[in-house]
Amino acid sequence: MVGAGISTASGIPDFRSPEIGLYSKLQKYDIPYPEAIFELNFFFHNPKPFFALAKELYPGNYRPNATHYFFRLLHDKGLLLRLYTQNIDGLERVAGIPPAKLVEAHGTFATATCTVCHNQFPSQDFWTDVLADRIPHCPVCTGIIKPDIVFFGEQLPQRFLLHVTDFPMADLLIILGTSLEVEPFASLSEAVWSSVPRLLINKDLVGSFAWGPRSKDVMLLGDLVQNVEKLAELLGWTEELRSLVQQETGKFNR
Ligand code: OAD
Ligand code: ZN
Repeated sequence: MVGAGISTASGIPDFRSPEIGLYSKLQKYDIPYPEAIFELNFFFHNPKPFFALAKELYPGNYRPNATHYFFRLLHDKGLLLRLYTQNIDGLERVAGIPPAKLVEAHGTFATATCTVCHNQFPSQDFWTDVLADRIPHCPVCTGIIKPDIVFFGEQLPQRFLLHVTDFPMADLLIILGTSLEVEPFASLSEAVWSSVPRLLINKDLVGSFAWGPRSKDVMLLGDLVQNVEKLAELLGWTEELRSLVQQETGKFNR
């Protein structure tokens, strides 16, 4: 299970970190309170802040870091049952983790849906507008097109239901870079059997690791990338991770 903390090393701010988190930097968008940027009521009142944020997150502006590639390594070794992410930056896909292994619980910018007639559109249809600071409109009915990012109160994608069978099957749960504050995602942290070890890699103690720790819990607190590299070292994967990162970042530099 991962959240915004795994992408800060890629240059994308998280949401709730004091002063540097996105929610503390939204004043320039003139919104009543930070979470409004992901609320439908506010979006219909003023969609500009959300599209300004979308523009900042434009796929291609950012690259995966060692954390994303650590999960790629788990997958390459046949050890990854599933990666549940709250992130909407798409960096898990860029790191080469196949969509079948992913649950993008808070949606994706890969597609968008008209808020009026509900026609779905591929992303290239709205990025031209978003990058030019225009609000994308539906060619069928002129309604506003909204990227398929899950707003507060909206249903999570169908694939989220995979948790019903995935979590009872897991023999290890790793949780990285999330405040575990947003439901229903946060509660997945309690969906593995109590005999299953849970490993939290985060700056601070969060969720049930703080208020109801289990006997098999392990917490690695501090800088996330450093601790992921430490974990790789304990597994004897340091060289493999380094060469994977090198090989993959080489692709971007060509
Ligand atoms: P948050 O910003 O709430 O939490 C990020 C967590 O990562 C915090 O506990 C940070 O301390 C930690 N963190 C950040 N950088 C770190 C670093 N370099 N090393 C170690 N830890 C670090 O982000 P999420 O939990 O992902 O919704 O937020 C959940 C949802 O809230 C998001 O998906 C978003 C937002 O509303 C949507 O996008 C729809
Ligand atoms: Zn429409």
